[in-house]
Amino acid sequence: MTSELSRRTVLAGLGGAVALTAAARPAAATVPRDPRVERLLARMSVAEKVGQLNLVTGADNARTALAGGALGGALNVIGVPAINALQEIAVKQSPLGIPLIFGLDVIHGYTTNFPIPLAQASSFDPEVTRTEATVAAAEARASGICWAYGPMLDLARDPRWGRIAEGNGEDPYLGAKLAEAKVRGFQGDDYSADDKVAACAKHYVGYGLSEGGRDYNTADLSIEKMHNYYLPAFRAAVRAGVATVMPSFSSINGVPAHADSYTLRDVLKGLYGFDGVVVSDWGGIDQMIAWNYAADGADAARLGLSAGVDMDMVSGDFARNLAQLLASGAVSRTHLDDAVRRVLRLKYRLGLFDRPYADPAREVTAPTAATRAAARTVAGRSMVLLKNSGVLPLSTSVGAIAVVGPLGQATGDLIGCWGGAGVGSSTPPTTIVDAIRAAAPNANVTYTAGCAINSADTSGIGAAAAAASAADAVVVVVGESAVMSGENRSRSNIKLPGVQEQLVSAIAGSGKPFAVVLINGRPLDLSAVDAVAPAILEAWAPGLEGGNAIADVLFGVVNPGGKLPVTFPRSVGQIPYYYNHDNTGHPGSSQSYLDLPAGPQWAFGHGMSYTTFAIGNLTLSADHLRRSNGSVRVGVTVTNTGKRAGDEVVQLYLRDPVASIIQPIRKLRGFRRVTLDPGGSTTVEFTLTCDDVGFYDNDGRFVVENGTMEVYVGNSSDNTPLHATFTVG
Ligand code: BGC
Repeated sequence: MTSELSRRTVLAGLGGAVALTAAARPAAATVPRDPRVERLLARMSVAEKVGQLNLVTGADNARTALAGGALGGALNVIGVPAINALQEIAVKQSPLGIPLIFGLDVIHGYTTNFPIPLAQASSFDPEVTRTEATVAAAEARASGICWAYGPMLDLARDPRWGRIAEGNGEDPYLGAKLAEAKVRGFQGDDYSADDKVAACAKHYVGYGLSEGGRDYNTADLSIEKMHNYYLPAFRAAVRAGVATVMPSFSSINGVPAHADSYTLRDVLKGLYGFDGVVVSDWGGIDQMIAWNYAADGADAARLGLSAGVDMDMVSGDFARNLAQLLASGAVSRTHLDDAVRRVLRLKYRLGLFDRPYADPAREVTAPTAATRAAARTVAGRSMVLLKNSGVLPLSTSVGAIAVVGPLGQATGDLIGCWGGAGVGSSTPPTTIVDAIRAAAPNANVTYTAGCAINSADTSGIGAAAAAASAADAVVVVVGESAVMSGENRSRSNIKLPGVQEQLVSAIAGSGKPFAVVLINGRPLDLSAVDAVAPAILEAWAPGLEGGNAIADVLFGVVNPGGKLPVTFPRSVGQIPYYYNHDNTGHPGSSQSYLDLPAGPQWAFGHGMSYTTFAIGNLTLSADHLRRSNGSVRVGVTVTNTGKRAGDEVVQLYLRDPVASIIQPIRKLRGFRRVTLDPGGSTTVEFTLTCDDVGFYDNDGRFVVENGTMEVYVGNSSDNTPLHATFTVG
């Protein structure tokens, strides 16, 4: 659009933004007072207040803290008896009887392990994420856990970073939709319900930018990029009512995130009006000393509370220092009371004052048939068919199937990082080999590992190739172990570890039809695999029912319909590499390397099916979007042109050809996953508003500018054959 600044609109409020320059920072939003909280607060001593801001790990530390005075809550206490025993001390023996809050990392399941979040994001279906969070919340709450440390909302463009597995990929729009779905699944309308938990949006904000993909690192984040890319998922979570937020372990523009009052007080508690609890990450307050930002624990506590952290997870700096800091005037009573109010309000909203105890009879100790079925459906919907030259789906009447590869008999590695910690969560998944045997009972199914996941030993590859030669079809299961992604698990090389590429080449050498199944927690450099494999299925770490879900997809019981929520680069040297990069002055050469073909291995939004689709008939309801509350409806027709029922994800992207801040070459502003029978057809409609066409400037203001907007619709960020334009003004 034209950058006619005199005529641009600046929208204020949650849907837009306000200027956040140092000169014009908004006052923290006034949160209506809860009379129950106020009555309690008025009776609390300083020690009791400080106690509420202290969160410890494990039952022993909780017991010690309770004996020494007040305690706010504990994480990592598992099982109803242990939780109730601590709760009884807090409720019956502390002077004011304030119940404890019990938190846990519930990342992709509590007892029933679902696919990792990055896999769920591949479904391009918020219902998938909501389903997982609904099951996890019900299991956790019934088992005494009322607070889940998720969703993880860190936009990530660097697959070297192990925590990319925990998030929703590289796109702010998809990330925001999934954030909302996860918060709603965890919390419902009322998280005092006995099947709901308080959610925690983390890690606020910019953690995915950790330099070099090395964990816990520096993040350099312009105001414009922060608001356009890294904040939208958090804003969506706040809009959905997320109860708590956790700052990042990284620094933001030279300030540890735990001390960053711009993001915590000005944006989160001010602009977004967040009235919940900001809980530090594990030791995040004390780490300010290692950052060389705080002089000592007292200084760190002062910086953290003043910046807007309400609860201190495990460092003890708040508990040890806040009373003295208050007495000396180094921290304000307003900040202390505000933090305590937030914690008490959370406990009231959780219903803990009325029902502090979990019912031992309701404790979940094993996955059920229903939760397994949900996990299998979610896993099937989360898989991405990266390529297929007709090998898949396999026929169940094939005579002999050789399963090869180090992950063919994996169990824990199917769960991935941050598996559930609930009782019964160690239930092993059905292996891929066993699931294939069950799916094709008349086939002779053999298994040969060929090599280990990460070893230089090639001695088994010959046997795997021989097994392949003796079979009619081959399934090669390769990838990463669960401990290769997640926290503090960065990799400098994102190829298949060990000698697995050699294994794939040896299978290709057998001349037999084969499909590669990938188990992994990050985008990999699969250039060597793509060069030889006729079919590749990205299954990620697919969870408890992952083996069965893989068999469902391999044999066509489930037609894959997932899409990549993150770019797969050709080489680690391209990183960071993402579809929605800014326009540049050299559109072609600014994306290329002398020693690599142009473009990624697979683009954001890519994913195939066993059927084919046609997307056409692009219509716009108007050729002009009014800045004053206007909208334009975009419609397309999608038709299943193949012979099987299947899913397509229709994707709408926008491009702003002229703007006062350089814009991305494409930005996703609509997606819809539809299921169609052969020959079936449906209309998909997207409504675009000012929210979609505007952007944040370098003052953190949301602006909508006059001009032209280009619309692209297709089934991948690199396949958008439908094109139209409208004007804004
Ligand atoms: C992680 C958080 C997690 C916390 C509690 C930290 O190391 O960064 O994501 O919630 O531990 O386990």
